[in-house]
Amino acid sequence: MKKIGILNGPNLDRLGTREPHIYGSTTLPELITRLGIEAKLLEVEIEATQSQHEGVLIEQIYHWADAGFNGLIANLGAYTHTSVALRDAIVASGLRTVEVHISNVYKREPFRHHSYISSVSEAMITGLGIEGYFAALRYLTQ
Ligand code: DQA
Repeated sequence: MKKIGILNGPNLDRLGTREPHIYGSTTLPELITRLGIEAKLLEVEIEATQSQHEGVLIEQIYHWADAGFNGLIANLGAYTHTSVALRDAIVASGLRTVEVHISNVYKREPFRHHSYISSVSEAMITGLGIEGYFAALRYLTQ
């Protein structure tokens, strides 16, 4: 069975209460539960981690790569726009990666328009709300 890692970066543990007009009202545990239901239907295994810490996120990517995972869904939050280290980890891991953003980063502040992750990902989904995670899961399951 394929295994997909779902990695959420800083502040995404606040989903549901954090700027709900931008990020919606679904909490992170609710989202992960719903992704788990979808994964069952798709006959794929998922594992999800959230961290506020860049190094922890990097270690998780390597852990999944070493464990033979088949793909990575990555919403790295603000680290998307700052972290060469996370970009390097994605490349070194060899994991097929889909970058996801709940909001449309291109409709927001200019500092959100650049991503270090996009050019090392197979795809970037931005602005579909939490639906982006489900689209990424279906894509990586193929
Ligand atoms: C985000 C967009 C980022 O710019 C922001 O820092 C986040 C969330 C999104 O899902 O829309 O934390 O990745």
